[in-house]
Amino acid sequence: MNINDIADKLIREHSLNIDEYEYLITNRNEEITERLRNEAVALRQKVYGRSVFVRGLIEISSYCRNDCLYCGIRRSNSKAQRYRLTEEEILSCCDEGYSLGYRTFVLQGGEDAYYTDDLLSDLITKIKSGYPDCAVTLSLGERSYESYKRLYDSGADRYLLRHETANREHYAKLHPQSQSFDNRMECLRNLKEIGYQVGCGFMVGSPYQTDRILAEDLRFIEGFRPAMCGIGPFITHRDTPFRDEANGSAELTLFLLSVIRIMLPNVLLPATTALGTADAIGREKGILAGANVVMPNLSPSEVRKKYLLYDNKICTGEESAQCRSCLSGRMRSIGYEVVTDRGDVRNMD
Ligand code: 5AD
Ligand code: FES
Repeated sequence: MNINDIADKLIREHSLNIDEYEYLITNRNEEITERLRNEAVALRQKVYGRSVFVRGLIEISSYCRNDCLYCGIRRSNSKAQRYRLTEEEILSCCDEGYSLGYRTFVLQGGEDAYYTDDLLSDLITKIKSGYPDCAVTLSLGERSYESYKRLYDSGADRYLLRHETANREHYAKLHPQSQSFDNRMECLRNLKEIGYQVGCGFMVGSPYQTDRILAEDLRFIEGFRPAMCGIGPFITHRDTPFRDEANGSAELTLFLLSVIRIMLPNVLLPATTALGTADAIGREKGILAGANVVMPNLSPSEVRKKYLLYDNKICTGEESAQCRSCLSGRMRSIGYEVVTDRGDVRNMD
């Protein structure tokens, strides 16, 4: 195999086999990185221009029934501070977000049984009737088909559920036995079948990840054809079993952002908060590698320090308006413009 031939093929066919993806990752160098970055930016430019979409991220609950070994709000972390936002608090975040120009609200939280279908359905109905020109994205983990369907019928537009890893054995090393790879995959299929714009994704540099596994992630994403794909570096959290593991690399994350943009030219690809935590200008670099979405925090400032999935998370001391203007400035500084728009995916194929 030859790295230049593989890069050519990716650019030409938007697809590689698993051995080629692995080879590309393992043997990447500055020259190939630069080439793929240029191609990714050209494709993003063709589909989305210089617009960057923003999503107002509302972290509705830090309670979680799950125990993912990497995550700071895992059930077993007795030091985690728990909170729940009320319907009124969430609606007031939307109100502030709307004034700040957000046209997508992302409701994200741990898997918290308090948020029943009745409660969420009512909440989504209220958001959609109060802000009919806005999209609602849910990021609330694994739920039943019926639940996903009911929330979709209430008006939810999109759902983010990272697959975390496409390798079954790797999944078992990141999660307790009670959490199943098959169920995660089935949830993703269900969400798609129901009609959501679906986002999958994974952490870069999670413990036990290999280049081969990353290649499997890329093959999975190619086949699944998500509307959105969230990737960010793994960052340790001091009160989890992975506290002494190494952090994921911003450089590899940026490389993979370019590869994913080339695979799926239309995909909505965020430059994540984790990337902005790993590197002070990680989000800017993410956009310059092919991303086209940023997700500033819209949670009430009082709860931000309680939603810590990893250490040193940025934006926990800021107000929503500060994050919004910070991001606009950062995007402008690299020649991009944050737009007031729902930011739906442009038609896939
Ligand atoms: N480092 C980086 N990302 C994390 N996530 C959870 N814990 C961490 C961590 N320690 C990611 C997971 C999850 C998303 C909401 O945040 O991929 O799906
Ligand atoms: Fe929150 Fe910059 S985005 S302070």
